[in-house]
Amino acid sequence: METKLLDILRARKATRAIDARPVEPEKLEAILEAARLSASCFNNQPWRFLVLTEPAGLEKGRDALSRGNYWARTAPVLIYGYSQADLDCVIGGVREYYLFDLGMAVQNVLLQATELDLVARPMAGFSPKKVRQAFGLSDDVRVMVAIAVGYEGDIATLEEQHQEMSRAPRERKALEEIVSFR
Ligand SMILES: Cc1cc2nc3c(=O)[nH]c(=O)nc-3n(C[C@H](O)[C@H](O)[C@H](O)COP(=O)(O)O)c2cc1C
Repeated sequence: METKLLDILRARKATRAIDARPVEPEKLEAILEAARLSASCFNNQPWRFLVLTEPAGLEKGRDALSRGNYWARTAPVLIYGYSQADLDCVIGGVREYYLFDLGMAVQNVLLQATELDLVARPMAGFSPKKVRQAFGLSDDVRVMVAIAVGYEGDIATLEEQHQEMSRAPRERKALEEIVSFR
């Protein structure tokens, strides 16, 4: 069956090429509202986002990116997603949900950006320590993800291997590998 959501999920932009053109404030607001509306354990809403759009903040945010994420430096919006253990539930003393819930909110960011014809690419390649230091976050904060947001750019600006990856079809495991019906 085809659905509107599957269309959005299939359309999610895989490219790393992001244009420097600014993102309209109302689009950014919609993206953040999508994160805000996410589900969370006991409705604790443990996600926190540093949204960098001003030159000084962007510079600090870009400095924390790893070398391989050079392409994200052109993005007009850089978001860092973080949380900390005491903001969310721990079930049975072992099941900590703060990072799970942060991830769900981040997925909403990616989907809303896609619907607005924007690229939003998540990244693990950055220094959490640099982010914490640059923005005065305490040591118990877990900075988990950077998200580069912007309009699709020209893949000619990317290094060769990233150009090839941008052209390649997206790969996913077959349903049988990830699902079991009993
Ligand atoms: C937690 C996480 C960390 C990621 N880190 C990076 C990264 O540092 N650099 C990068 O270019 N892509 C990164 N990605 C993007 C993945 O490589 C990408 O989602 C995956 O290859 C599937 O491709 P698609 O999202 O285009 O379908 C990351 C994605 C996730 C969810």
